[in-house]
Amino acid sequence: MTCCGHCADAEDLFSQRAARRDLRRYRRKGPIATTRLLLDFLSGHDLHGRTLLDIGGGIGAIQHELLQAGLSSATHVDASTAYLDASRREAVRQGHGDRVEYHHGDFVELSEALPEADLVTLDRVVCCYPDMPRLIEVSTSRARHLYGLSYPRARWGTKTAFAMANLFFRLRGSAFRTYLHRPEAIGEEVTRHGFSRIAEGRTFLWHVVLYRRTPAGD
Ligand SMILES: C[S@@+](CC[C@H](N)C(=O)[O-])C[C@H]1O[C@@H](n2cnc3c(N)ncnc32)[C@H](O)[C@@H]1O
Repeated sequence: MTCCGHCADAEDLFSQRAARRDLRRYRRKGPIATTRLLLDFLSGHDLHGRTLLDIGGGIGAIQHELLQAGLSSATHVDASTAYLDASRREAVRQGHGDRVEYHHGDFVELSEALPEADLVTLDRVVCCYPDMPRLIEVSTSRARHLYGLSYPRARWGTKTAFAMANLFFRLRGSAFRTYLHRPEAIGEEVTRHGFSRIAEGRTFLWHVVLYRRTPAGD
């Protein structure tokens, strides 16, 4: 395991209790809205036999849905042991436990040891990471074909919620913070690393975007 102080304190937020709650919800109602939108965008692409790197996959909804739909294998890297355990339990329950590899720690620290994948996803993860350009640089470098992510919209609602959450973390003595990176800056970083936007949607609080690696010469 490799973790900075920030990620080590992510364990506190993404706890056993939170993982149990999210897994229960997934089993009852299926993927949440951002994940559903990302899966909708991906449903237009043939992922049979393809591989996935799911960064901060939580209870693993993207992996589970895509493995059921024909994906060959997935790698899940996550700063939370509780979420990794929940994801593993669900993978076994759905019968694809042998097709997922799990890594615990800060993705940016671990990335060199991780395999490239046809598809890389970061669903509601960019807002957990202080150095957005570095996270985008390293994660896009692992994506051979598609790159999907969701991140918060810069609205007064998210600004207030993030400010309150950070005050709460500070008062608890946690090093964990949430980050409202400028949406345009996120898009510019992904594009700068050789990807073109091919689908885009929104929920009340989140942007959801799918990119494709721009073919050489375009
Ligand atoms: C808000 S949750 C999102 C979980 C899931 N993707 C979803 O949308 O339901 C953020 C997840 O990212 C993980 N995470 C945060 N920073 C990370 C990092 N630097 N490396 C790996 N995982 C990270 C957390 O442990 C947590 O599982």
